[in-house]
Amino acid sequence: MRKHIVAGASVLFIGLTFGSTAHAQNGEAAAQALGCTACHAAETKLVGPAYVDVAKRYGGDTDKILERIKAAVNNGASGNWTDVTGGTPMPPQPQASGKEKELKQIAEWIAGMAK
Ligand code: HEC
Repeated sequence: MRKHIVAGASVLFIGLTFGSTAHAQNGEAAAQALGCTACHAAETKLVGPAYVDVAKRYGGDTDKILERIKAAVNNGASGNWTDVTGGTPMPPQPQASGKEKELKQIAEWIAGMAK
């Protein structure tokens, strides 16, 4: 009986490991490195909206999400998520500006959450 439980847990673990793609890992790491995670979490509202809600609002469309990320990073964002945040704006994030590769990884990570 005990053996079965252990085996079941291993299968679940392997499933989780293979289920998260390289994109997701890179995107999450990039979001941490660029300071996004100070205000955003994948599934919970912090200062900014949860990334899963961003993913859903933009239909899991990577290009669209990348466009919104770049706009928010370069110019800041306000008024899009007042219902969720109470109106707190996102200040521009110059440390992330022009980081094309990392921002694309973040967009792919977020887009994947809509599925
Ligand atoms: C100081 C807190 C803070 C930091 C740091 C921050 N954000 Fe935000 N973010 C917010 C808030 C607040 C909003 C909601 C703004 C609004 O209502 O338009 C937001 C909104 C967004 C949106 C949705 C924009 C839209 O048009 O719908 C995206 C995407 C986003 N942030 C990505 C990022 C990324 C990527 C980083 C890191 C480079 C980052 N944020 C860093 C607070 C932050």
